[in-house]
Amino acid sequence: MAEALKAPFYDLIIVGASGFTGKYVVKEALKFLNINNPSSPLKSLAIAGRNPRKLSESLSWATHPNPPPPIPILFADITDPESLLRLCSHTKLILNCVGPFRLHGEPLVAACVEAGCDYLDICGEPEFMERMEAKYHDQAGESGSLVISACGFDSVPAELGFMFNSRQWVSPAVPNRVEAYLSLESEKRVVGNFGTYESAVLGVANAEKLQLLRRSRPKRARPVIPGPPPPKGSMIEHQKEVGLWAVKLPSADSSVVRRTLATLGENPCGLPGVNESADQISKREAFWSTLKPAHFGVKIGSKSLLGVLGFITVGMLMGLLGISSFGKWLLLKFPSFFSLGGFRKDGPTEDEVRSASFKMWFVAHGFRDSGSLSQGNNKPDMEIVTRVMGPEIGYVTTPIILLQCALILLNQRHNLPKGGVFPPGIVFGPTDLQERLKDNGISFDFILERAYSV
Ligand SMILES: NC(=O)c1ccc[n+]([C@@H]2O[C@H](COP(=O)([O-])OP(=O)(O)OC[C@H]3O[C@@H](n4cnc5c(N)ncnc54)[C@H](OP(=O)(O)O)[C@@H]3O)[C@@H](O)[C@H]2O)c1
Repeated sequence: MAEALKAPFYDLIIVGASGFTGKYVVKEALKFLNINNPSSPLKSLAIAGRNPRKLSESLSWATHPNPPPPIPILFADITDPESLLRLCSHTKLILNCVGPFRLHGEPLVAACVEAGCDYLDICGEPEFMERMEAKYHDQAGESGSLVISACGFDSVPAELGFMFNSRQWVSPAVPNRVEAYLSLESEKRVVGNFGTYESAVLGVANAEKLQLLRRSRPKRARPVIPGPPPPKGSMIEHQKEVGLWAVKLPSADSSVVRRTLATLGENPCGLPGVNESADQISKREAFWSTLKPAHFGVKIGSKSLLGVLGFITVGMLMGLLGISSFGKWLLLKFPSFFSLGGFRKDGPTEDEVRSASFKMWFVAHGFRDSGSLSQGNNKPDMEIVTRVMGPEIGYVTTPIILLQCALILLNQRHNLPKGGVFPPGIVFGPTDLQERLKDNGISFDFILERAYSV
């Protein structure tokens, strides 16, 4: 105990720093370490995991060709709760990169909630996020631990992109539905690491657990959205406006945006900060007063029909094989084959990461005049298109987002809720996160607005 008390206290600790994504997160974090960047609130940093050799290799990789700075390497094993509690009682904030989260995430959330430190992760698994919310929200509120999953490409571009589009609708205009079209681009190949593939395969294989969890929880009030529910549409869509063929993407984004809108429905002025100034209260309330709820969905797009057929094939293989143990074994044994080259055991090369980028188009339909709805017009007559774009999604954009969320937690903690389990949008929406992302290469653009006749 005396030894534990003497141990240093860190601003943040990156757990899972030896992983493929973890090492890119370390690289991004080092850019903001106070010794490299004097205005940064990040004064002390440690990395943690179960294998000191791999952690030290990550650190060397992250600073290559320079020698690694003296960053402490701490022991933490997800199967050893004491090691996690020790970690959490020596930091303000944990960044968790250990996945698949459905297998490894909960012990660290539990330790953060118990110790009262904050927690961010890069999870893209709705079942994990909703289960943590159901199980730990109240306790986290009491202990003052802010637990926010999906602080990576899943699902911050979707959350902030949705809000950016929704706030372009100036009264009396209102949106009815926003469809996001994701396009992954590269001069080489777009490749993901096995960790993300495994998380997706396990998500598909356990889809019924998510349904069971949702059925077991009290229904939350749905936000009031003007106009009819969105039409079903065909399985493959040709979106002429953005020049893409597209098919529904069963990612975490829709579930995360829905949770933000549900929380907003329950707290129309957003979530009060633990120690907000009067100025900040007005700023937060003004922000949320301009947000208009809408139906939201995500599709993955390709310039060619063949590309979309490829996405459908991978989805069908995962759906068909994922339900049996042998099928799951096959999927996990041969990731490259079953993902048509989209995922590899050893991840993308640095060149592949450097040459990739994304565009996420938000195509929204709604009403020029919300008053016309009461006169019987329920066909949308206006469209607004916006776009979020940035570098490679998994290992460049994700670390950028995670670090910017962390820096906001470190220097604006008084403006954020005391504690609880929340999606990122409801917490970071009224902060300067969008500006920060823009400063780091992720842009938010207004593309067009047009009225049409019905
Ligand atoms: N939000 C997004 O857009 C986004 C982007 C990228 C990744 N991700 C997610 O991030 C997760 C990680 O992906 P990845 O490709 O980086 O996977 P990875 O390379 O396999 O890394 C997994 C990490 O977890 C650690 N780990 C596993 N079991 C552990 C245990 N018992 N105790 C402590 N550490 C343990 C591993 O440590 P060892 O090195 O010791 O094995 C490694 O550091 C996945 O769930 C993926 O879906 C999300």
